[in-house]
Amino acid sequence: MRQLIAGNWKMNGLLTEATTLAQHISAAAAGLACDLLVCPPATAVHIVAATLSGCGIGVGGQDCHAEEKGAHTGDISAAMLRDAGATWVILGHSERRADHGETDAMVLAKVDAAVTAGLTPIVCVGETEAQRLAGRQEEVVGAQLVGSLPKDFASSGASVGVVAYEPVWAIGTGRTPTEADVAAMHAFIRKTLLAHLGPAGQGVRILYGGSMKPANAKALLALPEVGGGLIGGASLKAPDFLAIAEAAVGG
Ligand code: 13P
Repeated sequence: MRQLIAGNWKMNGLLTEATTLAQHISAAAAGLACDLLVCPPATAVHIVAATLSGCGIGVGGQDCHAEEKGAHTGDISAAMLRDAGATWVILGHSERRADHGETDAMVLAKVDAAVTAGLTPIVCVGETEAQRLAGRQEEVVGAQLVGSLPKDFASSGASVGVVAYEPVWAIGTGRTPTEADVAAMHAFIRKTLLAHLGPAGQGVRILYGGSMKPANAKALLALPEVGGGLIGGASLKAPDFLAIAEAAVGG
């Protein structure tokens, strides 16, 4: 399976910055063995999608509302993201779970809304540092997967959904789990996907996210069951993002 290298720009990028970053990424992206995706802030989805039109790099949102439309001030529907040119959406990121109180049930409803609108969901899971220190990481991630993924996650919509394992304590900290810990968690996630989704769970790419950078990308992306990366800080610099993409493998 081709690996997916996805950039989560989070709340970064005015229109000129977002456009320049997209141009720099597209200029060097030809011939990469992996799939590439960028997820700008909602205000920049349209212009980034226009900038990347026809070059094979996907564009995604960072969240969507579970409802199709209505009285939800400040929210954005999946159909609006699709209308602006996105074909992907990140859901249940730990920053949204923490900042906006998103529960697994809310993420599940958003996944359904995203798929209905024609977006491919990337669902984020991951334990806090306290949970890992208590040895509860598999219990926590297992519950997030079963609670957030609909049974048809691997077989609905235009393409198969994606899971991103992002240990909360590794995000933006420069710290990563050991390679053995990443491999063990990805193996656990695959086992859980197969149990929850049936054989179709084999087709779900499992990304690693959390302080991935050019220096550690090759080792992390070579681990079994690592289907790509979800990159925060390093995705804001085109050379770093592209260096990570060069470390990825095709399928
Ligand atoms: P960093 O790469 O900045 O640690 O962020 C990871 C992340 O949260 C991607 O969604």
